Amino acid sequence: MVHSLLGRAAWVFGGLAAAATLAFAALVDRAPAPPQAVPAVREVPADDLFAQHCALCHEAGAMTASLRAKPDREGTRRETVDFLHGHGEASDEEDVRIVEFLLGTQGPQTP
Ligand code: HEC
Repeated sequence: MVHSLLGRAAWVFGGLAAAATLAFAALVDRAPAPPQAVPAVREVPADDLFAQHCALCHEAGAMTASLRAKPDREGTRRETVDFLHGHGEASDEEDVRIVEFLLGTQGPQTP
């Protein structure tokens, strides 16, 4: 008797859980797409990326000067992007933009 009651309770709870999951899925399905709160990396100016991820420990002017002083710009670009892979908290895509910003190899902000 107790055993069969438990069995029934398990069915009821299982059913409730399944219904809740379906209801949630239906709600989520109908919800409008949430507004893009975080702007895509492409839309954030590279100097903001630097300020966000690097300025705590580095000064943009000094870093720009030391990177641009190196003779092999493309090599420096590659090495620095590689280095940043394991350094700082920016994503790889952000790293590339930050390095291009520092080296002055990106379009609009090239001096
Ligand atoms: C928490 C502090 C911290 C943050 C944040 C940080 N760095 Fe560094 N960085 C250092 C320290 C300390 C060194 C020197 C030791 C080393 O090589 O790891 C360094 C070294 C470097 C170097 C090589 C040495 C040089 O001056 O040429 C580069 C390039 C660099 N960081 C770029 C960046 C960039 C770009 C970011 C942002 C994505 C960043 N770092 C974020 C602390 C930081």
